[in-house]
Amino acid sequence: MLRMPTNVPTYLVRIEPAGWEFEARADTPVMQAAREAGYLLPSSCRNGTCRTCMCKMTAGQVRYTVEWPGITFDESDDGLILPCVAVAEAPLVLHSPHARLKSEVDALLAEARARSKRF
Ligand code: FES
Repeated sequence: MLRMPTNVPTYLVRIEPAGWEFEARADTPVMQAAREAGYLLPSSCRNGTCRTCMCKMTAGQVRYTVEWPGITFDESDDGLILPCVAVAEAPLVLHSPHARLKSEVDALLAEARARSKRF
């Protein structure tokens, strides 16, 4: 079993407009921390290139885990971030209206699988 260092700070992350909150470690991408807490942010590549996950950060500060995230300086100045490759450096508030509860998505997928077996 992989052990995570215990001296890494964690920050509260709020996803708006749903109001969901979770803790994100300063060494874990926000998207991964959200997933581990039961929330799914829109995603595709998860490496900072496709921009599917782009959302507005209305409070907080992040740093990127990749040298060249697919975001312009103007977008960054406007508060946009890529949570798949961003780690929290302060408490965050993110506006991600397409975020979903993982439990709801899992239930929909199970239902779709069950329906597809009937045909
Ligand atoms: S999921 Fe592709 S840039 Fe974040």
